[in-house]
Amino acid sequence: MIKNIVKSVIATSLFGAIVVSTATTVSAAPAPAAAQPAAAQPAPVTFNRLLKKASPTNLPPAEDGIHDPTVDSAQMLQPPLQGMNGLTRSNFGNNVNWVNSLQTKKVIPRWDRADPNAESLVMDVNIVRTPRGSMPDVVFPHKAHTEWLECSNCHPAIFVPQKGANQISMAAILLGQKCGVCHGKVAFPVSECKLCHSQKRAAAAP
Ligand code: HEC
Ligand code: HEC
Ligand code: HEC
Repeated sequence: MIKNIVKSVIATSLFGAIVVSTATTVSAAPAPAAAQPAAAQPAPVTFNRLLKKASPTNLPPAEDGIHDPTVDSAQMLQPPLQGMNGLTRSNFGNNVNWVNSLQTKKVIPRWDRADPNAESLVMDVNIVRTPRGSMPDVVFPHKAHTEWLECSNCHPAIFVPQKGANQISMAAILLGQKCGVCHGKVAFPVSECKLCHSQKRAAAAP
């Protein structure tokens, strides 16, 4: 039987900002047992399936199907729509354009939260990768990432810091690896091809 499940991932990042992502998934398989041994292969990321979005999105914690509504704290948590009110909107993920919200200072990461002398280390380096097949080139912007994230969020566990040293494929991303560790979970979903495949292909070598 096909069942609609609304899932939402809330990740509290190091600097205290909250990144929420919502999507609809359709699952034909029975729910996995609660206590599973650590599998060698991570489960496919259901958030990344290209399906119609849940409506309405960003429900309050007590109604989102994730938090137990009978527990007091579910009522105490701030509803996402209230927390995200005033941020730049988008038509995908949790309907917030986080990159623009950051650029326009509607969100200000608190680097100094744990250490008053901490400073952000923003790196403005784009990595361009030409995919197999005919899709446009992928531009990975370090800037849009390091405005939120530490180098160590990606290096070296997810990516060896060397251009071209990592094998990346859409299959891996859809399985929640490489870019898919975040995209489709706490960052914009894989349905937004053009945000990553954003540059005309370099002319083919003669
Ligand atoms: C969101 C993930 C992410 C974060 C955060 C990140 N990087 Fe990277 N970095 C990458 C990816 C992806 C590549 C390209 C790897 C490839 O092409 O195989 C890369 C490549 C590099 C390279 C190689 C560049 C080249 O031309 O060979 C260096 C150096 C690097 N990163 C340094 C940093 C530093 C310093 C920071 C923190 C200020 C940082 N990175 C933060 C994902 C990240
Ligand atoms: C550690 C988490 C993480 C990883 C890994 C990661 N990203 Fe991101 N990415 C983010 C976050 C967080 C944002 C900002 C929030 C958003 O746009 O949803 C972002 C934003 C972006 C943007 C900016 C889009 C815009 O609107 O300007 C692009 C492009 C992007 N990522 C591509 C990639 C690619 C390509 C990879 C893999 C090579 C990758 N990312 C890996 C977390 C990650
Ligand atoms: C989060 C960033 C991101 C998004 C969103 C994204 N891609 Fe990709 N895509 C990549 C990266 C990175 C590669 C690997 C490039 C390389 O070979 O270096 C890739 C590779 C590919 C390839 C080449 C075959 C392969 O698997 O390596 C195809 C085809 C492709 N993407 C299609 C799509 C389509 C269609 C969409 C939208 C439904 C999409 N991509 C969305 C990052 C992304």
